[in-house]
Amino acid sequence: MLSFMKISASSAYDRGSEYLVGLDLGTSKITVVVAEREGSYGEAQIIGIGQAPSTGIRKGQIVNIDQTVKSLRRAIDDAENMVGENLSEATVAFSGANVESVRTTGMISLGKAPRSVIKFDIERVIEAAQTELSVPGGKMILHTIPVEYSLDGTRGIDDPLGMAGMRLNIELMSIIVPVAVVHNVKNCVTRAGLEVSGLVIKPLASALGTLTPEESVVGSAVVDFGGGTCGVSVFFEGRPKHLGVVSVGGEHITNDMAVVLKIPTNKAEELKKDLALFSDSPPPEQPNDLEFEYMGRNYTCPLDKLTDIVRCRVEELFSVYIKDEIAASGIASLPGGLIITGGGSKSAGIDQYLSKTVNMPVRVSPPLDSGRMPPSRNGVEYACAAGIIRYVLEKEKDPLKYIDYSFEAENIEMSNPTIPPLPRRGKSPFQHVVNLFKELF
Ligand SMILES: Nc1ncnc2c1ncn2[C@@H]1O[C@H](COP(=O)(O)OP(=O)(O)O)[C@@H](O)[C@H]1O
Ligand SMILES: [Mg+2]
Repeated sequence: MLSFMKISASSAYDRGSEYLVGLDLGTSKITVVVAEREGSYGEAQIIGIGQAPSTGIRKGQIVNIDQTVKSLRRAIDDAENMVGENLSEATVAFSGANVESVRTTGMISLGKAPRSVIKFDIERVIEAAQTELSVPGGKMILHTIPVEYSLDGTRGIDDPLGMAGMRLNIELMSIIVPVAVVHNVKNCVTRAGLEVSGLVIKPLASALGTLTPEESVVGSAVVDFGGGTCGVSVFFEGRPKHLGVVSVGGEHITNDMAVVLKIPTNKAEELKKDLALFSDSPPPEQPNDLEFEYMGRNYTCPLDKLTDIVRCRVEELFSVYIKDEIAASGIASLPGGLIITGGGSKSAGIDQYLSKTVNMPVRVSPPLDSGRMPPSRNGVEYACAAGIIRYVLEKEKDPLKYIDYSFEAENIEMSNPTIPPLPRRGKSPFQHVVNLFKELF
Protein backbone atom coordinates (compact mmCIF):
# COMPACT_ATOMS: atom_id res chain seq x y z
CA MET A 1 0.00 0.00 0.00
CA LEU A 2 1.39 3.37 -0.92
CA SER A 3 1.59 5.84 1.90
CA PHE A 4 0.35 8.67 -0.28
CA MET A 5 -2.99 9.17 -1.95
CA LYS A 6 -3.83 7.64 -5.28
CA ILE A 7 -3.96 10.11 -8.11
CA SER A 8 -7.63 10.17 -8.88
CA ALA A 9 -7.66 13.15 -11.20
CA SER A 10 -6.20 12.61 -14.64
CA SER A 11 -4.97 16.21 -14.72
CA ALA A 12 -2.59 15.45 -11.85
CA TYR A 13 -1.19 12.47 -13.71
CA ASP A 14 -0.81 14.48 -16.90
CA ARG A 15 1.29 17.03 -15.03
CA GLY A 16 3.44 14.24 -13.59
CA SER A 17 2.73 15.44 -10.07
CA GLU A 18 1.23 13.67 -7.12
CA TYR A 19 -0.54 14.63 -3.93
CA LEU A 20 0.09 13.83 -0.31
CA VAL A 21 -2.93 14.37 1.90
CA GLY A 22 -3.00 14.69 5.68
CA LEU A 23 -6.10 14.83 7.85
CA ASP A 24 -5.90 16.20 11.40
CA LEU A 25 -8.80 15.13 13.63
CA GLY A 26 -8.87 17.82 16.29
CA THR A 27 -11.34 18.55 19.07
CA SER A 28 -11.92 22.10 17.83
CA LYS A 29 -11.43 21.70 14.11
CA ILE A 30 -10.73 19.18 11.39
CA THR A 31 -7.97 20.13 8.98
CA VAL A 32 -7.13 18.64 5.61
CA VAL A 33 -3.70 19.48 4.23
CA VAL A 34 -2.79 18.83 0.59
CA ALA A 35 0.80 18.87 -0.64
CA GLU A 36 1.89 18.46 -4.23
CA ARG A 37 5.19 17.25 -5.55
CA GLU A 38 6.80 16.59 -8.84
CA GLY A 39 7.20 12.86 -9.48
CA SER A 40 7.34 10.35 -6.64
CA TYR A 41 10.40 11.48 -4.71
CA GLY A 42 10.60 15.27 -5.03
CA GLU A 43 10.10 17.99 -2.44
CA ALA A 44 6.49 18.43 -1.41
CA GLN A 45 4.84 21.83 -1.37
CA ILE A 46 1.66 22.44 0.65
CA ILE A 47 -0.87 23.82 -1.83
CA GLY A 48 -4.07 23.84 0.17
CA ILE A 49 -5.51 23.59 3.66
CA GLY A 50 -9.19 22.91 4.16
CA GLN A 51 -10.90 23.02 7.50
CA ALA A 52 -14.22 22.80 9.32
CA PRO A 53 -15.30 23.06 12.96
CA SER A 54 -15.16 19.66 14.65
CA THR A 55 -18.47 18.79 16.24
CA GLY A 56 -18.32 15.06 17.05
CA ILE A 57 -15.02 14.90 18.93
CA ARG A 58 -14.52 15.42 22.66
CA LYS A 59 -11.13 15.37 24.39
CA GLY A 60 -9.62 14.06 21.17
CA GLN A 61 -11.98 11.13 21.01
CA ILE A 62 -14.85 10.54 18.55
CA VAL A 63 -18.11 10.66 20.49
CA ASN A 64 -20.56 11.09 17.62
CA ILE A 65 -19.97 9.32 14.31
CA ASP A 66 -22.55 11.24 12.22
CA GLN A 67 -21.35 14.65 13.35
CA THR A 68 -17.71 13.68 12.84
CA VAL A 69 -18.46 12.43 9.31
CA LYS A 70 -20.26 15.71 8.51
CA SER A 71 -17.37 17.80 9.84
CA LEU A 72 -14.91 15.66 7.90
CA ARG A 73 -16.87 16.06 4.69
CA ARG A 74 -16.96 19.84 5.13
CA ALA A 75 -13.20 19.99 5.69
CA ILE A 76 -12.55 17.69 2.69
CA ASP A 77 -14.86 19.79 0.46
CA ASP A 78 -13.05 22.93 1.58
CA ALA A 79 -9.66 21.41 0.67
CA GLU A 80 -10.95 20.06 -2.65
CA ASN A 81 -12.32 23.49 -3.60
CA MET A 82 -9.01 25.06 -2.73
CA VAL A 83 -6.87 22.70 -4.81
CA GLY A 84 -9.40 21.96 -7.56
CA GLU A 85 -8.95 18.19 -7.34
CA ASN A 86 -10.90 15.28 -5.87
CA LEU A 87 -9.05 13.72 -2.98
CA SER A 88 -9.22 9.98 -2.50
CA GLU A 89 -7.02 9.00 0.45
CA ALA A 90 -5.23 10.51 3.40
CA THR A 91 -2.89 9.86 6.30
CA VAL A 92 -4.94 10.59 9.41
CA ALA A 93 -3.67 12.09 12.68
CA PHE A 94 -5.75 11.36 15.76
CA SER A 95 -5.37 11.26 19.54
CA GLY A 96 -7.54 10.57 22.56
CA ALA A 97 -6.99 9.29 26.06
CA ASN A 98 -5.29 5.92 26.61
CA VAL A 99 -2.30 6.47 24.35
CA GLU A 100 0.53 4.43 25.83
CA SER A 101 4.20 4.70 25.00
CA VAL A 102 6.04 1.49 25.98
CA ARG A 103 9.75 0.77 25.59
CA THR A 104 11.30 -2.68 25.12
CA THR A 105 14.78 -3.88 24.23
CA GLY A 106 16.08 -6.53 21.84
CA MET A 107 19.45 -8.10 21.03
CA ILE A 108 20.83 -10.27 18.22
CA SER A 109 24.22 -11.82 17.63
CA LEU A 110 25.95 -11.01 14.35
CA GLY A 111 28.38 -13.96 14.60
CA LYS A 112 31.66 -14.88 16.26
CA ALA A 113 33.69 -12.35 14.29
CA PRO A 114 32.75 -8.72 13.57
CA ARG A 115 30.84 -8.15 10.34
CA SER A 116 28.81 -5.36 8.72
CA VAL A 117 25.21 -4.93 9.76
CA ILE A 118 22.78 -5.52 6.90
CA LYS A 119 19.13 -4.44 6.65
CA PHE A 120 17.96 -7.95 7.55
CA ASP A 121 19.83 -7.68 10.90
CA ILE A 122 18.03 -4.44 11.70
CA GLU A 123 14.71 -6.07 10.95
CA ARG A 124 15.65 -9.07 13.12
CA VAL A 125 16.61 -6.94 16.11
CA ILE A 126 13.38 -4.94 15.80
CA GLU A 127 11.46 -8.21 15.79
CA ALA A 128 13.40 -9.39 18.85
CA ALA A 129 12.35 -6.26 20.76
CA GLN A 130 8.76 -6.64 19.57
CA THR A 131 8.52 -10.11 21.09
CA GLU A 132 9.22 -8.56 24.52
CA LEU A 133 6.01 -6.61 24.27
CA SER A 134 2.69 -7.86 25.54
CA VAL A 135 -0.30 -6.01 24.16
CA PRO A 136 -3.39 -6.10 26.36
CA GLY A 137 -6.71 -7.26 24.84
CA GLY A 138 -8.57 -4.53 23.00
CA LYS A 139 -5.35 -2.62 22.32
CA MET A 140 -3.09 -2.51 19.30
CA ILE A 141 0.32 -1.19 18.36
CA LEU A 142 -0.02 1.91 16.22
CA HIS A 143 3.67 2.79 15.86
CA THR A 144 6.91 0.92 16.36
CA ILE A 145 9.78 3.38 16.62
CA PRO A 146 13.46 2.45 17.01
CA VAL A 147 14.76 4.79 19.74
CA GLU A 148 18.40 3.78 20.00
CA TYR A 149 20.78 1.17 18.57
CA SER A 150 23.96 -0.11 20.26
CA LEU A 151 26.75 -2.11 18.64
CA ASP A 152 29.00 -4.20 20.90
CA GLY A 153 27.96 -2.03 23.83
CA THR A 154 28.54 1.32 22.12
CA ARG A 155 25.33 3.27 22.61
CA GLY A 156 23.80 6.08 20.60
CA ILE A 157 24.29 4.53 17.16
CA ASP A 158 22.02 6.50 14.85
CA ASP A 159 21.92 4.05 11.94
CA PRO A 160 23.81 0.73 12.31
CA LEU A 161 23.49 -0.18 8.61
CA GLY A 162 26.97 -0.98 7.25
CA MET A 163 28.70 -0.63 10.64
CA ALA A 164 30.79 -3.55 11.94
CA GLY A 165 30.17 -5.46 15.14
CA MET A 166 29.26 -8.78 16.75
CA ARG A 167 26.21 -7.83 18.81
CA LEU A 168 23.37 -5.48 17.89
CA ASN A 169 21.02 -4.08 20.55
CA ILE A 170 17.97 -1.93 20.15
CA GLU A 171 15.64 0.10 22.32
CA LEU A 172 12.20 0.23 20.73
CA MET A 173 9.24 2.44 21.53
CA SER A 174 5.76 1.14 20.78
CA ILE A 175 2.70 3.36 20.78
CA ILE A 176 -0.30 1.38 21.95
CA VAL A 177 -3.88 2.56 21.42
CA PRO A 178 -7.35 1.06 21.82
CA VAL A 179 -8.43 -0.94 18.75
CA ALA A 180 -11.92 0.57 19.02
CA VAL A 181 -10.51 4.11 18.67
CA VAL A 182 -8.74 3.15 15.44
CA HIS A 183 -11.92 1.50 14.20
CA ASN A 184 -13.95 4.65 14.83
CA VAL A 185 -11.38 6.89 13.13
CA LYS A 186 -11.20 4.64 10.10
CA ASN A 187 -14.96 4.25 9.93
CA CYS A 188 -15.59 8.03 10.00
CA VAL A 189 -12.94 8.89 7.43
CA THR A 190 -14.12 6.14 5.08
CA ARG A 191 -17.74 7.24 5.44
CA ALA A 192 -16.67 10.79 4.63
CA GLY A 193 -15.29 9.45 1.33
CA LEU A 194 -11.52 9.07 1.85
CA GLU A 195 -9.49 5.91 2.13
CA VAL A 196 -7.13 5.80 5.11
CA SER A 197 -3.62 5.29 3.75
CA GLY A 198 -1.92 5.72 7.11
CA LEU A 199 -2.46 6.70 10.72
CA VAL A 200 -0.24 8.83 12.93
CA ILE A 201 -0.60 9.75 16.56
CA LYS A 202 -1.08 13.52 16.81
CA PRO A 203 1.83 14.40 19.14
CA LEU A 204 4.27 12.79 16.70
CA ALA A 205 2.91 14.82 13.76
CA SER A 206 2.95 18.04 15.84
CA ALA A 207 6.58 17.47 16.83
CA LEU A 208 7.67 16.76 13.25
CA GLY A 209 5.77 19.87 12.19
CA THR A 210 7.60 22.20 14.57
CA LEU A 211 10.93 20.87 15.86
CA THR A 212 14.08 22.15 14.20
CA PRO A 213 16.74 19.48 13.54
CA GLU A 214 18.94 21.03 16.29
CA GLU A 215 16.14 20.98 18.86
CA SER A 216 15.33 17.36 18.10
CA VAL A 217 18.99 16.35 18.51
CA VAL A 218 19.89 18.24 21.72
CA GLY A 219 16.67 17.24 23.48
CA SER A 220 13.36 19.14 23.52
CA ALA A 221 9.75 18.69 24.51
CA VAL A 222 6.83 19.71 22.29
CA VAL A 223 3.35 20.45 23.58
CA ASP A 224 0.49 20.84 21.10
CA PHE A 225 -2.00 22.82 23.18
CA GLY A 226 -5.26 21.97 21.42
CA GLY A 227 -8.93 22.34 22.28
CA GLY A 228 -9.60 19.19 24.33
CA THR A 229 -6.12 17.67 24.63
CA CYS A 230 -2.45 18.48 24.84
CA GLY A 231 -0.18 16.26 22.79
CA VAL A 232 3.24 15.82 24.40
CA SER A 233 6.39 14.53 22.75
CA VAL A 234 10.00 14.38 23.85
CA PHE A 235 12.79 14.13 21.28
CA PHE A 236 16.47 13.41 21.88
CA GLU A 237 19.25 12.54 19.44
CA GLY A 238 16.80 13.11 16.58
CA ARG A 239 14.34 10.45 17.70
CA PRO A 240 11.13 10.46 19.74
CA LYS A 241 11.70 9.19 23.30
CA HIS A 242 8.15 9.55 24.54
CA LEU A 243 4.75 10.42 23.09
CA GLY A 244 1.64 11.03 25.17
CA VAL A 245 -1.73 12.74 25.30
CA VAL A 246 -3.15 14.69 28.24
CA SER A 247 -6.93 15.09 28.15
CA VAL A 248 -6.95 18.77 29.07
CA GLY A 249 -6.90 21.65 26.59
CA GLY A 250 -8.02 25.18 25.82
CA GLU A 251 -11.70 24.29 26.23
CA HIS A 252 -11.12 23.69 29.94
CA ILE A 253 -9.92 27.28 30.31
CA THR A 254 -12.98 28.53 28.43
CA ASN A 255 -15.25 26.43 30.64
CA ASP A 256 -13.61 27.73 33.82
CA MET A 257 -14.17 31.29 32.61
CA ALA A 258 -17.80 30.55 31.70
CA VAL A 259 -18.47 29.10 35.16
CA VAL A 260 -16.85 32.01 37.00
CA LEU A 261 -18.56 34.68 34.92
CA LYS A 262 -21.82 32.72 34.56
CA ILE A 263 -21.86 33.26 30.80
CA PRO A 264 -22.22 30.88 27.83
CA THR A 265 -19.01 29.30 26.59
CA ASN A 266 -19.02 31.12 23.23
CA LYS A 267 -18.81 34.48 25.04
CA ALA A 268 -16.10 33.10 27.37
CA GLU A 269 -14.17 31.90 24.32
CA GLU A 270 -14.36 35.37 22.78
CA LEU A 271 -13.10 37.01 25.98
CA LYS A 272 -10.28 34.48 26.33
CA LYS A 273 -8.98 35.38 22.88
CA ASP A 274 -9.27 39.14 23.50
CA LEU A 275 -7.70 39.40 26.96
CA ALA A 276 -3.99 39.20 27.77
CA LEU A 277 -4.43 36.71 30.61
CA PHE A 278 -0.78 35.65 30.92
CA SER A 279 1.01 38.89 30.27
CA ASP A 280 3.02 40.55 33.07
CA SER A 281 2.42 43.90 31.43
CA PRO A 282 -1.06 43.80 29.88
CA PRO A 283 -1.89 46.44 27.27
CA PRO A 284 -2.81 49.84 28.88
CA GLU A 285 -6.30 49.69 27.38
CA GLN A 286 -7.06 46.47 29.29
CA PRO A 287 -9.19 47.52 32.30
CA ASN A 288 -8.75 46.25 35.87
CA ASP A 289 -12.42 45.37 36.03
CA LEU A 290 -13.99 43.53 33.20
CA GLU A 291 -17.37 45.10 32.34
CA PHE A 292 -19.50 43.96 29.47
CA GLU A 293 -23.07 43.49 28.34
CA TYR A 294 -24.23 40.15 27.01
CA MET A 295 -27.76 39.20 25.93
CA GLY A 296 -29.24 42.21 27.70
CA ARG A 297 -27.44 41.66 31.02
CA ASN A 298 -24.52 43.59 32.50
CA TYR A 299 -21.53 41.68 33.85
CA THR A 300 -18.59 42.82 35.94
CA CYS A 301 -15.66 40.81 37.19
CA PRO A 302 -12.28 41.85 38.56
CA LEU A 303 -9.72 40.85 35.94
CA ASP A 304 -7.39 39.60 38.70
CA LYS A 305 -9.91 36.94 39.64
CA LEU A 306 -10.16 35.75 36.04
CA THR A 307 -6.41 35.67 35.42
CA ASP A 308 -5.88 33.75 38.70
CA ILE A 309 -8.34 31.06 37.65
CA VAL A 310 -6.94 30.70 34.14
CA ARG A 311 -3.33 30.68 35.33
CA CYS A 312 -4.14 28.07 38.00
CA ARG A 313 -5.57 25.76 35.34
CA VAL A 314 -2.56 26.20 33.05
CA GLU A 315 -0.14 25.87 35.95
CA GLU A 316 -1.73 22.54 36.93
CA LEU A 317 -1.74 21.36 33.32
CA PHE A 318 1.95 22.04 32.76
CA SER A 319 3.48 21.51 36.21
CA VAL A 320 1.60 18.27 36.93
CA TYR A 321 0.26 16.45 33.86
CA ILE A 322 2.67 17.62 31.18
CA LYS A 323 5.63 17.43 33.56
CA ASP A 324 4.74 13.77 34.25
CA GLU A 325 4.63 13.00 30.53
CA ILE A 326 8.02 14.67 30.00
CA ALA A 327 9.47 12.78 32.98
CA ALA A 328 8.26 9.48 31.45
CA SER A 329 10.81 10.01 28.65
CA GLY A 330 13.61 9.44 31.15
CA ILE A 331 15.55 12.37 29.67
CA ALA A 332 16.86 14.44 32.56
CA SER A 333 17.83 17.59 30.70
CA LEU A 334 16.25 19.21 27.68
CA PRO A 335 18.54 22.01 26.48
CA GLY A 336 16.26 22.65 23.49
CA GLY A 337 13.53 23.67 25.95
CA LEU A 338 9.78 23.47 25.54
CA ILE A 339 8.20 24.18 22.18
CA ILE A 340 4.49 24.98 22.34
CA THR A 341 2.14 25.00 19.42
CA GLY A 342 -1.61 24.52 18.72
CA GLY A 343 -4.38 27.09 19.22
CA GLY A 344 -3.82 27.32 22.99
CA SER A 345 -0.33 28.71 22.44
CA LYS A 346 -1.84 31.88 20.91
CA SER A 347 -2.55 33.41 24.34
CA ALA A 348 -0.42 36.54 24.65
CA GLY A 349 2.50 36.12 27.08
CA ILE A 350 1.98 32.38 27.62
CA ASP A 351 5.58 31.57 26.65
CA GLN A 352 7.08 33.86 29.31
CA TYR A 353 4.58 32.66 31.86
CA LEU A 354 5.30 28.99 31.15
CA SER A 355 9.07 29.37 31.15
CA LYS A 356 8.78 30.10 34.89
CA THR A 357 6.40 27.18 35.46
CA VAL A 358 8.49 24.56 33.68
CA ASN A 359 11.84 26.21 34.34
CA MET A 360 13.02 25.89 30.74
CA PRO A 361 13.15 28.20 27.76
CA VAL A 362 9.78 28.19 25.95
CA ARG A 363 9.27 28.89 22.26
CA VAL A 364 5.86 29.28 20.60
CA SER A 365 6.20 27.59 17.24
CA PRO A 366 4.22 27.93 14.03
CA PRO A 367 4.73 25.09 11.53
CA LEU A 368 8.28 24.82 10.16
CA ASP A 369 6.65 25.03 6.73
CA SER A 370 4.61 28.16 7.54
CA GLY A 371 6.44 30.20 4.88
CA ARG A 372 5.18 27.80 2.25
CA MET A 373 1.60 27.52 3.54
CA PRO A 374 -1.47 29.64 2.67
CA PRO A 375 -0.98 32.91 4.65
CA SER A 376 -4.28 32.72 6.55
CA ARG A 377 -3.74 29.06 7.42
CA ASN A 378 -0.12 28.83 8.50
CA GLY A 379 -0.38 29.60 12.22
CA VAL A 380 0.25 27.47 15.31
CA GLU A 381 -3.09 25.67 15.01
CA TYR A 382 -1.90 24.08 11.73
CA ALA A 383 1.37 22.63 13.04
CA CYS A 384 -0.03 19.13 13.43
CA ALA A 385 -1.57 19.11 9.94
CA ALA A 386 1.69 20.29 8.36
CA GLY A 387 3.56 17.68 10.42
CA ILE A 388 1.53 14.86 8.85
CA ILE A 389 3.14 15.63 5.47
CA ARG A 390 6.60 15.61 7.07
CA TYR A 391 5.76 12.28 8.72
CA VAL A 392 4.73 10.71 5.40
CA LEU A 393 7.92 11.96 3.72
CA GLU A 394 10.23 10.82 6.54
CA LYS A 395 8.64 7.38 6.62
CA GLU A 396 9.06 7.07 2.89
CA LYS A 397 12.73 8.07 3.08
CA ASP A 398 13.45 5.55 5.85
CA PRO A 399 10.74 2.88 6.28
CA LEU A 400 12.46 1.55 9.42
CA LYS A 401 12.27 4.92 11.26
CA TYR A 402 8.52 4.80 11.89
CA ILE A 403 7.00 1.39 11.36
CA ASP A 404 3.27 1.29 11.56
CA TYR A 405 0.33 -0.96 11.40
CA SER A 406 -1.07 -2.19 8.14
CA PHE A 407 -4.35 -0.36 7.81
CA GLU A 408 -6.34 -2.77 5.71
CA ALA A 409 -9.75 -2.94 7.39
CA GLU A 410 -9.60 -6.71 7.73
CA ASN A 411 -6.30 -6.49 9.59
CA ILE A 412 -7.76 -4.47 12.43
CA GLU A 413 -9.16 -7.29 14.47
CA MET A 414 -11.27 -6.12 17.38
CA SER A 415 -10.33 -9.09 19.54
CA ASN A 416 -6.89 -9.98 18.28
CA PRO A 417 -4.15 -7.39 18.75
CA THR A 418 -1.33 -7.99 16.37
CA ILE A 419 2.30 -7.02 16.16
CA PRO A 420 2.74 -4.71 13.16
CA PRO A 421 4.51 -6.33 10.22
CA LEU A 422 7.84 -4.89 9.13
CA PRO A 423 7.87 -3.04 5.82
CA ARG A 424 8.55 -5.31 2.89
CA ARG A 425 12.24 -5.95 2.47
CA GLY A 426 14.13 -4.26 -0.32
CA LYS A 427 11.33 -1.97 -1.49
CA SER A 428 13.29 0.10 -3.95
CA PRO A 429 12.26 3.42 -5.50
CA PHE A 430 11.76 1.39 -8.66
CA GLN A 431 9.29 -0.89 -6.88
CA HIS A 432 7.50 2.20 -5.68
CA VAL A 433 7.00 3.39 -9.24
CA VAL A 434 5.85 -0.10 -10.31
CA ASN A 435 3.26 -0.05 -7.50
CA LEU A 436 2.13 3.40 -8.49
CA PHE A 437 1.51 2.25 -12.05
CA LYS A 438 -0.28 -0.86 -10.78
CA GLU A 439 -2.62 1.38 -8.81
CA LEU A 440 -3.16 3.68 -11.76
CA PHE A 441 -4.07 1.10 -14.37
N1 LIG B 1 -6.10 33.72 20.37
C1 LIG B 1 -6.26 32.69 21.19
N2 LIG B 1 -5.97 32.79 22.50
C2 LIG B 1 -6.15 31.74 23.33
N3 LIG B 1 -6.59 30.54 22.95
C3 LIG B 1 -6.90 30.37 21.65
C4 LIG B 1 -6.74 31.41 20.71
N4 LIG B 1 -7.12 30.95 19.49
C5 LIG B 1 -7.49 29.66 19.68
N5 LIG B 1 -7.37 29.32 20.97
C6 LIG B 1 -7.71 28.04 21.59
O1 LIG B 1 -7.09 26.97 20.91
C7 LIG B 1 -7.86 25.80 21.05
C8 LIG B 1 -7.95 25.10 19.71
O2 LIG B 1 -6.67 24.80 19.26
P1 LIG B 1 -6.46 23.84 17.98
O3 LIG B 1 -5.01 23.56 17.87
O4 LIG B 1 -7.12 24.46 16.82
O5 LIG B 1 -7.28 22.59 18.51
P2 LIG B 1 -7.54 21.10 18.04
O6 LIG B 1 -6.33 20.66 17.30
O7 LIG B 1 -7.74 20.38 19.32
O8 LIG B 1 -8.76 21.12 17.21
C9 LIG B 1 -9.23 26.22 21.58
O9 LIG B 1 -9.36 25.83 22.93
C10 LIG B 1 -9.19 27.74 21.45
O10 LIG B 1 -9.90 28.37 22.49
MG1 LIG C 1 -4.46 21.07 16.87
